[in-house]
Amino acid sequence: MTLKDIKKLINDMTLEEKIGQLIQLPPFFFSDDGAMTGPAQEMGISEEQIFECGSTLSVVGAEAIRAIQDKALKLQPHHIPMLFMADVINGYRTGYPIPLAQGCSFDPELSGECAKMAAREASYDGLDVTFSPMVDLVRDSRWGRVMESTGEDTYLNSCFASAMVEGYQGKDMKEEGSIASCVKHFAAYGAPTAGREYNIVNIDKRTLTDDYLPPYEAAVKAGCAMAMTSFNTIDRIPVTGNKWILRDVLRKKMGFKGVLISDWAAIEELINHGVAKDSREASELAIKAGVDIDMCTGMYFSGLKTLVEEGAISEELIDEALLRILKLKNRLGLFENPYRFLDEDKAKKEILCDTNRKLAKKAAENSMVLLKNDKGILPLKKKGKKIAFIGPYADNSHIFGFWSLWCKMEETPSVKQAIEAGDYSKDVVFAKGCNILDKKAILPGFGAALDNEYSGDNDDLLLEAVSCAKKADIVVLLLGEHAAMSGEGGSRADIRLPKCQRKLFREISKVNSNIVTVLFSGRPLELDGIEKKSRALLEAWFPGTEGAKALLDILYGNVNPSAKLSMSFPRHVGQLPISYDDFPTGRPNDGNPGNRGTTRYQDVENTPLYPFGYGLSYSKYEYGPVILSKKKMTRSDTITASVEVKNISERDGTEVVQLYIRDMKGSVVRPVKKLKGFKKVKIGAGKKKKITFEINDEMLNFTTLSGRFESEAGDFKVYIGPDSQTENCADFVLI
Ligand code: BGC
Ligand code: BGC
Repeated sequence: MTLKDIKKLINDMTLEEKIGQLIQLPPFFFSDDGAMTGPAQEMGISEEQIFECGSTLSVVGAEAIRAIQDKALKLQPHHIPMLFMADVINGYRTGYPIPLAQGCSFDPELSGECAKMAAREASYDGLDVTFSPMVDLVRDSRWGRVMESTGEDTYLNSCFASAMVEGYQGKDMKEEGSIASCVKHFAAYGAPTAGREYNIVNIDKRTLTDDYLPPYEAAVKAGCAMAMTSFNTIDRIPVTGNKWILRDVLRKKMGFKGVLISDWAAIEELINHGVAKDSREASELAIKAGVDIDMCTGMYFSGLKTLVEEGAISEELIDEALLRILKLKNRLGLFENPYRFLDEDKAKKEILCDTNRKLAKKAAENSMVLLKNDKGILPLKKKGKKIAFIGPYADNSHIFGFWSLWCKMEETPSVKQAIEAGDYSKDVVFAKGCNILDKKAILPGFGAALDNEYSGDNDDLLLEAVSCAKKADIVVLLLGEHAAMSGEGGSRADIRLPKCQRKLFREISKVNSNIVTVLFSGRPLELDGIEKKSRALLEAWFPGTEGAKALLDILYGNVNPSAKLSMSFPRHVGQLPISYDDFPTGRPNDGNPGNRGTTRYQDVENTPLYPFGYGLSYSKYEYGPVILSKKKMTRSDTITASVEVKNISERDGTEVVQLYIRDMKGSVVRPVKKLKGFKKVKIGAGKKKKITFEINDEMLNFTTLSGRFESEAGDFKVYIGPDSQTENCADFVLI
């Protein structure tokens, strides 16, 4: 359709029809065969009105989507097709590692490829839009949703944001296999106070602008078709009714032209926040702030019509939102073909096909972080050692994380299944050791507690495991959180492993000191005594469908680990929030435990246990000094920074070389380091490589005292090294 056709269509629509397009109804309004169900009747919505809504979410499967679309086309007076949206976060049916793990790959291109293949699976199954990428900056692992982000760094998240948007959408959303991408949660949802889910966000505008907003902006620049508002407040104004952040920042400043959807029920929640009294006021705030779609509440349904009729808002405001929604439908090609790529045969072939499984394995191999490897206990040898695989994750297929809504356990091999099917060592035993959760622990669900097969009696399991450990040369302990301990609503004040697992660790460590600990988790955990007493420590996160095979290939050395942390591991929960891009203070820590007058805790070091950017491999690298092409830079030229990295081991490897910059003095306080570039390079055994980065003025920009985003002349330090704690640096001056 041309723009003229769309505008003509709008002119021809009744107000009710227009409002219908601005409403997204939840899946339970539609049964499998496209018939009306109970909740609609309660809300006073007629069957016609249900099928006049513009979109739904979380309905998956070609058959179900076809049935609903068929009916919508019949009942919508202008035969406007519905949009089908869903959370395709780290894969659709083929599960890729959780986004936090993908961040550790420092390989946005690879995540772009995962997004592309997820889009193909989803589009053949009938989906048009994914609520991804989630690019919220995360610094507090008490918050369960850190797993959905690619981590704590502005630049890293920005790189992943654009790669994922491009992966989902392709060059043109009419291209087969693409879906529209919805960046979320705009804005700063990743900074809830004290890491408590849905809590308010206290953030100053400078931090918001310099650190939190750039990843959303990167997604916008990459052309993402949609954005989602966040649940939180900014400056005590709930985002979903916050005109400044949505209209002035997102639309005007960032140039976002797409469709803005509220998060689930966020318009109605304006009432709970205490800024609106009823649906009329909540709708008024949201529509004026520029929210185009009301996700899953009756607010727009009951509020907008009255507002127009009473003259509180003009119908043009509704037309403005409607135009954006219809334009999106047009960009997706829905008017020509309301089913787009929906195709049962293609879906069958694409879903979990070899290519996607291989990609899932590659992504998992690239995202597991080796945190410790004492005297090279890893890699394991195939022969000559008896290995006991112990722990609740020794034989558990639920390793795809909280938001992998359509992954199935029966399509995901567990570690035990992968060993039995693969060519690893034969002299192995398995023992569960304990359940994931403590006895009688409750795992909250949305509304009711989840069925809990993970919190039974542990005593017998422990005895069996200890006896296995006694007879083994090496124990691989597979511990971790249940997937539902992170994700939405997964905030925790205690981020250690459940007690039963800590007890298992203690008892095993009494009888066997060769412990290789593997962690499955959706957040950086507090590792307590576990880190000290493990000879090796590997963070596997929730690695997805092919995660167990990837893990074994790393453990047995078929794959050389190369991932680096996308989020710091605290020593203690009390340090949170923590991130490497800290600020200097008036009383810097002098490292003297007897000195009270410095910025520090009395009982724990300031530094994280493992910093952002950190990760080991089976190779060893030596960094040469940082060499700058010149010592002075003007705003119009660039400096080349280079370093020689040597692989001093006998194994070929891949290293993530990281560039950080420090601005030594500013009109406002500047962070001690900021990531400005990274390169993932293969370096052969005994070989060296020169790695270069171009430094330009744009990399030095920040919100200065004047309020402008610009650089300031003065001294800078350039660091190039293996992680964010590197001291390998050189100086230059911006003149
Ligand atoms: C979450 C979003 C998600 C939406 C739809 C909300 O509860 O915050 O991230 O996209 O539900 O499932
Ligand atoms: C304290 C002040 C105190 C001042 C003079 C500073 O170290 O922060 O509270 O008044 O010393 O004793």
